[in-house]
Amino acid sequence: MREINFEDDQIIWNILKEHIEEGQELQRMVVSSVDENLRPQVRTMILRAVDFKTKCLYFYTDARSSKIGQWQKNQFCQVLAYSPSELLQLRFTAKAEVWQSGELYESAKSGLKEHQWRDYSSLLAPGSAYDPALKFSSNKLNFAFVKIKVEQMEILKLLPKAPEHLRYSFNYEKKNGLAKRLVP
Ligand SMILES: Cc1cc2nc3c(=O)[nH]c(=O)nc-3n(C[C@H](O)[C@H](O)[C@H](O)COP(=O)(O)O)c2cc1C
Repeated sequence: MREINFEDDQIIWNILKEHIEEGQELQRMVVSSVDENLRPQVRTMILRAVDFKTKCLYFYTDARSSKIGQWQKNQFCQVLAYSPSELLQLRFTAKAEVWQSGELYESAKSGLKEHQWRDYSSLLAPGSAYDPALKFSSNKLNFAFVKIKVEQMEILKLLPKAPEHLRYSFNYEKKNGLAKRLVP
């Protein structure tokens, strides 16, 4: 396991980048939304890209999926990931934005693989009742690009052999991601 200076948040963002490039654990994140009855909803999503400069996480989805309408009504969300190999938990408090046009959207769309294109063009919307007669693709692409702007990042590094674990909070609402050490 690597030695990390946990006061330096850029290192954490670099680890995320590595996990995306290598398809590792932290790429599979749990992302929340709030539904119309104010109940929390969670699902696994694949982290596609990160931007340390703007503190954004990027995901792909089907524009017809229920989370999209939920984020359009209420942007607040949390994103959670745990890496058993790094013994590292990351939790992001954030706001979700859904994009179906623009430069970043077009660039993501042009990189979609054939199976992704097929998935995002299913005739029936995700979550609708399965009908074997209607399982084919339409010619409408329902791809959406989700930008999650992080307001706060919290990390928990488990150190089973040390006297205590390490927990840090980075508040990006303040300038320069001010690091604060917390009791684990
Ligand atoms: C390993 C894994 C990766 C997934 N990646 C994505 C993803 O990148 N985007 C996505 O919309 N759904 C992804 N899903 C499916 C979601 O977890 C979820 O079932 C689906 O998006 C419907 O969610 P919703 O009804 O809350 O909108 C993934 C599921 C698993 C198990």
